[in-house]
Amino acid sequence: MENVQLNGGQQLAVKYFVVAVLLFVAQILFGLLSGMQYLAPDFLLGVLNFNMTRTVHINAMVVWMLYGFIGSVYWLLEEESGHPVVGLKWGNLAFWVLTAAVTVVVLVYLFVQTGPGNDFTRWFINEGREYIEAPRWADIGIVVCFSVFFYNVAATFAKGRWSGIAGVLTLDLIALAGLYMAGMFYTTNISLDQYWWWWVIHLWVEATWEVLVGCIMAWGLMKTLQVERKIVTTWLYIEVALMFGSGILGLGHHYFWIGTPEYWLSIGGFFSALEPIPLVAMVVHAVYDSGVRHMKSNNRPALAWLIAHAFGNFFGAGVWGFMHTLPQINLYTHGTQWAASHGHLAFFGAYATIIIAMFYIAVQHMRGQADLGSHLPDRGWKWKWALGLLNVGVVGMTVALLISGYEQSFIERAMDGSTWYGYFAAQIHPWFVQGMQWRMVFGVVTTVGIGLLIWDLLTIGRARPVTLPAATESR
Ligand code: HEM
Ligand code: HEM
Ligand SMILES: [Fe+2]
Repeated sequence: MENVQLNGGQQLAVKYFVVAVLLFVAQILFGLLSGMQYLAPDFLLGVLNFNMTRTVHINAMVVWMLYGFIGSVYWLLEEESGHPVVGLKWGNLAFWVLTAAVTVVVLVYLFVQTGPGNDFTRWFINEGREYIEAPRWADIGIVVCFSVFFYNVAATFAKGRWSGIAGVLTLDLIALAGLYMAGMFYTTNISLDQYWWWWVIHLWVEATWEVLVGCIMAWGLMKTLQVERKIVTTWLYIEVALMFGSGILGLGHHYFWIGTPEYWLSIGGFFSALEPIPLVAMVVHAVYDSGVRHMKSNNRPALAWLIAHAFGNFFGAGVWGFMHTLPQINLYTHGTQWAASHGHLAFFGAYATIIIAMFYIAVQHMRGQADLGSHLPDRGWKWKWALGLLNVGVVGMTVALLISGYEQSFIERAMDGSTWYGYFAAQIHPWFVQGMQWRMVFGVVTTVGIGLLIWDLLTIGRARPVTLPAATESR
C-alpha cells in the first residue's frame, strides 16, 4: 500500500485509520439494520433487537471517530513537533490493547446483549449510557490507553517544539479525557445520571471535539493550501474562545426536561444559541483561504472534504442545532426524529468529513504524490462520486428524518399533548412512515458512497511515480 517510508507516528496513524474505516463500515451496516427495523419491526426480532443494532451503530461511530482523531494526531505529531514520537513503543502497545478491548466489547454486545440489572452487567456487559455503553472494565482500559496516547503527544511536543496548534491540542486532550470520566460516575438517580452523562456527550461534541477538529483544520489548511501558520493560529484562537465561551454553558440545552432546575432553560437557551457563531467563523476561514489561493491545492480530495467539513459543521451543528435549541421549541421537538436528523448531519458534517480529509492527506503522503487530485488517470471520478454520494446520502437522510420529526412534533406533541395515544398516532401517520422509507433509500446511497470512498482510498495515486520531494522511496 505504501510507496514511501513513513515516520513512526505516521505508521501508527495508519493502523488507527485502518480500524477507523472498518468501524465506519460496521456503523453503516448496523445503521441499515436499525433503519430496517423501523420499517419492519419483526426484522431480526429476538436475534438482534433494535436496542442492540442501534447501540452498535452509534458506539461504532464514536469509536471510529476517536480512532480517526487519534490517528490524525499521530499523523501530524512528528512534523509539528520536529521530534520523533516519545514512547512510541507504548503507543503501539496501547493501539493493540485498545483494539482488542473494542473487539471484545462488540462481541459481547452482539452475543450476550443484555444481563440482569445489577453491577455484574454494568461491569461486564453494558453500562446503559447511550453512545458510551461500553462496560466499566472497558472504560478503565480506554482511560489507560488514552493516557498513553496523551503521554506520547505531550512528551513529544515537550522534547521537540511547541506551536500554537500544539498547545491548544495538548490542553484540549486533557479536557477530553477528563470529561470521559464524568460518564463513569454511577448513581441510581436518573436525573443525576443524565446530568453527568451530558458532560461527556455534549461537552465532547460541542466543546472538546470541536476544538480538536479546529486544530486538525488549522494544520490541514497549511498542508493543502499552504496558508501561513500565523493566519491559521490566529483563527484557531478565535474559534476556541468562541467555542468554549458558548459551548460550555450551552450544555444547558440538555437540562431542559430531565428534572434539573428551571434556570437551565434560560442559560441553555441563551448560550447554545450563540454556538453557531464559531462555526460561521470556520466557514469564513476555510472559504476565504481557498479563495485567496484560487483553490490551488496539492490535494484536491482533502481540500474538498475540509470544505465539506466547514459547511457540514455549520449546517449540521449550527443550523440544525439552533432550530431546536430554544426551550420554547424544544418543548415540542425534544426526543423526536428532529434530534436524529440533527444528530446525523452534525456527526457526519462536523467529524466524519474532516477525518476523511485526513485519510486523503495520509494517502497522498504514503503514495509519495506531490500533487494529488489533478491529472489523475481516471479524472478522479471515484473521489468525486464518493464525495457526492456520501453528502447527498446524509443530507437526504437528514431531510427525511426532519419531515418525520416535524410530523411527530405536530401530531404527538402539539395536537395530542404528549399523550400515549399521541405517540402512537404519530408513529403510524403516513408522513412519519414515508420519512422512514426515504431514510432507507438515502441510507443505501450513503452506503454506496462509502464503498466508493474505500475503493478510492486504496487506489488513488497508487500507480503514479513518486513525486514528493521529501519522500524517500521504500521499494
Ligand atoms: C458537532 C456538533 C454537534 C453534534 C455532533 C451534535 C449531536 C447531537 C446528537 C447526536 C443529539 C441527540 C442526543 C441524544 O441522543 O439524545 C443532539 C441533541 C441536541 N443538540 Fe446537538 N450536536 C452538535 C451541536 C449542536 C449545537 C451547536 C446546537 C445548538 C445550537 C445543538 C443543539 C442540540 C439540542 C437542543 C439537542 C437536544 C435535542 C432533543 O431535545 O431531543 N447541537 N445533538
Ligand atoms: C446507512 C446509513 C444510516 C442509516 C440507515 C442510519 C440509521 C439510524 C437509525 C435507525 C438510528 C436510530 C434512530 C432512533 O433511535 O430513532 C440512527 C441513529 C443515529 N445515527 Fe445513523 N444511520 C446511518 C448512517 C449514519 C451516519 C453516516 C452517521 C454519522 C456519521 C450516523 C449517526 C447517527 C447518530 C448520531 C444517531 C443517534 C441519533 C439520536 O440519538 O438522535 N448514522 N441511525
Ligand atoms: Fe448539546
